[in-house]
This record gives sequence, C-alpha cells and structure tokens, in this order.
Amino acid sequence: MRVSIDVARCQGHGRCAILAPDVFDVDDLGKSRTLLDPCPEELRAAAEEAAFSCPEGAITVSAVAAG
Ligand code: F3S
Repeated sequence: MRVSIDVARCQGHGRCAILAPDVFDVDDLGKSRTLLDPCPEELRAAAEEAAFSCPEGAITVSAVAAG
C-alpha cells in the first residue's frame, strides 16, 4: 500500500507518529513524513488509524498502483 501526506495540510499534531511510529516521523519543522514507501500491508491497520485520527485529514492510505 501507499501512504501519502499532504504537507500543506499537516500542522504537526503528531498523532500519526504516536499511533504508527513505524510508518510516520515528524521532522524538526513539525511536518510528518512517511518512513516506508511502499508501506507493508501488515502496517495497514496502524496507518489507517493514524489517517482517521489526523485532525487535518492530511494522511491518505491507498493501494499501490498496479504496474
Ligand atoms: Fe501532521 Fe496529522 Fe500527523 S497534522 S503530524 S499528519 S497527525
């Protein structure tokens, strides 16, 4: 799967890195970034929980495009 962050929306709440520390990291500027791209399926539940919990709706979890 693919996890993407809209950096324009991210306000540095940091919930993503707390809920899914294997998937997200918040940098010194307070912007989240993904640690794994593509992201393994076993981390889907954590990534989706983080996406659901982000107050800014900045996280999108999607399937990796075929091909
Ligand atoms: Fe940013 Fe949302 Fe995480 S605002 S730091 S992507 S919880």
